[in-house]
Amino acid sequence: MGGALSRTGLSSGKSKYHSSKSLTGKTVIITGANTGIGFQTAVDLAKRNGRIILACRNDEKGEAAKSRIIQLTGNKSVVFRHLDVSLMSSVRSFADIVRKEEKGVDILINNAAVVNWNEVVTPEGLEETFATNYYGPFLLSKLLIDMLEKSSEGRIVNVGSIASLGGSVDGDTVWVHKGFTRGGYNDSKLALLLFTKELARRTAHTNILVSYVHPGTVTSELFRNLPWILQFIITFVMRPFLKTPLEGAQSILFCALDDAIQTGGYYMDCSLYDHSKWVPNSAYDKELSKKLWRTTERIITEIDSG
Ligand SMILES: NC(=O)c1ccc[n+]([C@@H]2O[C@H](COP(=O)([O-])OP(=O)(O)OC[C@H]3O[C@@H](n4cnc5c(N)ncnc54)[C@H](OP(=O)(O)O)[C@@H]3O)[C@@H](O)[C@H]2O)c1
Repeated sequence: MGGALSRTGLSSGKSKYHSSKSLTGKTVIITGANTGIGFQTAVDLAKRNGRIILACRNDEKGEAAKSRIIQLTGNKSVVFRHLDVSLMSSVRSFADIVRKEEKGVDILINNAAVVNWNEVVTPEGLEETFATNYYGPFLLSKLLIDMLEKSSEGRIVNVGSIASLGGSVDGDTVWVHKGFTRGGYNDSKLALLLFTKELARRTAHTNILVSYVHPGTVTSELFRNLPWILQFIITFVMRPFLKTPLEGAQSILFCALDDAIQTGGYYMDCSLYDHSKWVPNSAYDKELSKKLWRTTERIITEIDSG
């Protein structure tokens, strides 16, 4: 039941994804679903009649998003569950709740992210950008793999960024709080890409499809921690060239729903972009991916043991 892609009515790069796919009986988790691209993705998926779990760090915003989505779609199976994806302890508690409450998980969308201008260190000692954009999705995906395996077509969609092109990752010393730079967002999105490729290889024998998606450059709250002058430029000067959150959601929906998705693929504008100039060569470095995986597991174990 694949969807048809139409660019009608939208300028280049603002593809609209069309699919009549129903999610009746399916369970979907979306992190950071209370605003921006994640919220719009959740609205679309809720219209398809699935059970939609909004995994958000702010309870008030999460509950408000839940009420709004129920009001917009009439789907009463939309629920909010607390998740601060930058904290490994919170990721573990969330996964425990999912395990208790759900029979399985069909789609996991790792959407939550931050861009920081100044260094923030989480109570667990990780630099916040890397913790939110990379460590959290890594651990959450791993903890829910067996739940996704129960699905006839499990999917993990990692919301990345074209900014990964400007990133660099050292598989031996994955960033902790000592290494803050303003390029950390790019590095975290490259790490997420390397993780996507490695996870796809490790789950190749299962029914799980893993994908990485750049949603486009979108007007949202993502840039809220930047200096006001940069926010002004993005919000007012660049606005005509940016996508709306609804437009940004389209490629994520494509990755979550379409039959054409290839596991491990890098998607943007509802198309496969692997081996294009937009994908960094290091994304295909299998040794680096493996090293990164091992180092990440070691750091998470260190956090677990305090
Ligand atoms: N906007 C763009 O131009 C652009 C470009 C490329 C890629 N992306 C990617 O698209 C995705 C969505 O971004 P967006 O533009 O929609 O940004 P946004 O409007 O800032 O939304 C980000 C969401 O993530 C949540 N979040 C942040 N830290 C979290 C944490 N520790 N635990 C749980 N949730 C957390 C935020 O919650 P709060 O509201 O509580 O802060 C918010 O719901 C991100 O992965 C981003 O990197 C965006």
